[in-house]
Amino acid sequence: MANVVVEFTNSKKTVNAVVGSPLSQLCAKNGIKVKYSCKQGDCATCSINIDGRNVKACQGRVPASRRIVKIKA
Ligand code: FES
Repeated sequence: MANVVVEFTNSKKTVNAVVGSPLSQLCAKNGIKVKYSCKQGDCATCSINIDGRNVKACQGRVPASRRIVKIKA
């Protein structure tokens, strides 16, 4: 499985992550607090910003598009 470097820009934390792994697990594992409500992709309470785009953390997965993924959360 491919890995990417993920930078959590708010906390200035950098970690390695497996491409395609759930964003919710990545955030939880690294102590990044995300608010959830429906957990089904309907409400957008869990929106986080990845490389300038809003993504629902409860449904999203670590993207493979770049070597370094910047998450503002
Ligand atoms: S918690 Fe509702 S869309 Fe993610």
